[in-house]
Amino acid sequence: MIKKSGMPLLEVKNLKKYFPVEKGFWRKTVGYVKAVDKVNLYINEGETLGVVGESGCGKTTLGRCILRAIEPTEGSILFRLNGDMIDITKLDRESLRATRRYTQMIFQDPYSSLDSRMTVLDIVGEPLLVNNLATGRKMEERVKDLVKVVGLNVKHLKRYPHAFSGGQRQRIGIARALASNPKFIVADEPVSALDVSVQAQTLNLLQDLQVEFKLTYLFISHDLSVIEHISDRVAIMYVGKVVELAKTEEFFLNPLHPYSEALLSALPKPDPRLRMKRIILSGEVANPVNPPSGCYFHPRCKYAEEICKKEEPGWKEVNPDHFVACHFAKELSLKGVI
Ligand SMILES: Nc1ncnc2c1ncn2[C@@H]1O[C@H](COP(=O)(O)OP(=O)(O)O)[C@@H](O)[C@H]1O
Ligand SMILES: [Mg+2]
Repeated sequence: MIKKSGMPLLEVKNLKKYFPVEKGFWRKTVGYVKAVDKVNLYINEGETLGVVGESGCGKTTLGRCILRAIEPTEGSILFRLNGDMIDITKLDRESLRATRRYTQMIFQDPYSSLDSRMTVLDIVGEPLLVNNLATGRKMEERVKDLVKVVGLNVKHLKRYPHAFSGGQRQRIGIARALASNPKFIVADEPVSALDVSVQAQTLNLLQDLQVEFKLTYLFISHDLSVIEHISDRVAIMYVGKVVELAKTEEFFLNPLHPYSEALLSALPKPDPRLRMKRIILSGEVANPVNPPSGCYFHPRCKYAEEICKKEEPGWKEVNPDHFVACHFAKELSLKGVI
């Protein structure tokens, strides 16, 4: 369906984002929320990388760091621009501004992410003005094209967000993200806030737009069935870390991390004969301020051994294009879904 060049558009190396935890009147730093912790991943041109994980595991923070909407604490983010890989963590304000138009974000909540005092024309046209891409009549024409592309009525350009349904608002957000002709889009749970009935339409629209405009997506979701539908590859996050990275099919058939196995066991299956025994994860998700020693997942892992408490597992490519951080990735034979 999607043509892929196979070349990475984006490479994230050892990325960290630690938020200080402050206490008392003097706001003394007493610790850090390790929201993103030594993340490594890459995204090829034209593909969708799905990022999955429970609430609070750092998905949004990862997406915002990659766009440099927030400053990463450490690590590099290489982005292919005009044939060269540039490290966007090293860009000064001026150069960063020049690259902004190539990377955009679609937000989770179409109710709060659109300014209620702006019309559709203003909302979708703003990136064109900010990036000096079009003004006046030219801008209006471009906005009309974008509005058509996302399936909204061009007669409604002067309306305000409150006049639209959730699904339509999300389309306005998508049109805005497309305005500057980006190469790369972070879609942060773009359908989670929508009615089930419009989720599929919105996902299909995103897929059509990807082909039409040769877009590369980082698609964030806590829902594995959405991820399965839309992603070429998946990254599984647990407490600030990517613990597994693989092609979608390979991941579903042959997961290598015990956390992934547990997530897959909870997927609903249409055929009850194919249903596997759900793995109930005991214990709480680890606290990113004070994570456990060794492998963060060890207190909930049914395969954990001594070494898992002591040593953090390294990031290994166990099969071609299949990476995992688990001491026993090679020994365990985990269940996927058929
Ligand atoms: N601006 C911030 N200041 C302090 N902590 C934050 C901030 N943003 C996010 N966090 C914390 O970072 C962790 C990851 O959050 P987030 O990236 O929003 O997770 P997700 O999108 O997976 O639900 C959470 O523990 C959250 O409380
Ligand atoms: Mg989030």
